[in-house]
Amino acid sequence: MQIRKLSINEEPPMELLLLADPSSDLVKDYVKRGECFVAEKEQEMIGSYVLLPTRPETVELVNIAVAESKQGNGIGKLLVLDAIKRAKEQGYKTMEVGTGNSSVGQLALYQKCNFRIVGVDRDFFTRHYVDKIFENDIWCRDMIRLSQDLLSKE
Ligand code: COA
Repeated sequence: MQIRKLSINEEPPMELLLLADPSSDLVKDYVKRGECFVAEKEQEMIGSYVLLPTRPETVELVNIAVAESKQGNGIGKLLVLDAIKRAKEQGYKTMEVGTGNSSVGQLALYQKCNFRIVGVDRDFFTRHYVDKIFENDIWCRDMIRLSQDLLSKE
């Protein structure tokens, strides 16, 4: 498997990116404002993520996704670690990520990759999405914000 930056003349893998966010307008906006990376195996795109610059020296990891049939095999973790490596190489000092209060697996993954919980954006999902979202039988209402100091030696 190789992870590479999507070139400007390539179409972003919308089917994959939409697994992480149901709003195609938001996804298109992230891809336009950020850098999209794709994981490929035997010429098939099986994963993707976007690095989105937000504030000076801060980048947010958004839209990370692995093709459904390939989930649970360590690819998601490889993508998060690749994003951290590239952000460090680009000189960013902080990486942020946000996920739903119901996203138990994602919360596990991010914490295993050294992210720490820094806050809760209460009712983010109830404010921004019309339909109620349920995941793992939990009502997804709040956005859990996580962050990682890229300069830390910990
Ligand atoms: N409890 C504890 N640990 C869990 C867990 C749970 N419920 N679910 C996952 N994990 C752990 C795994 O054990 C693994 O840790 P390990 O490497 O120490 O074994 C780690 O999380 C990541 O697993 P991995 O196989 O690399 O994840 P993946 O390839 O399935 O990718 C996603 C993870 C989230 C990218 C993938 O499931 C996906 O595309 N989901 C849909 C899109 C999405 O939700 N994106 C994120 C938006 S915030």
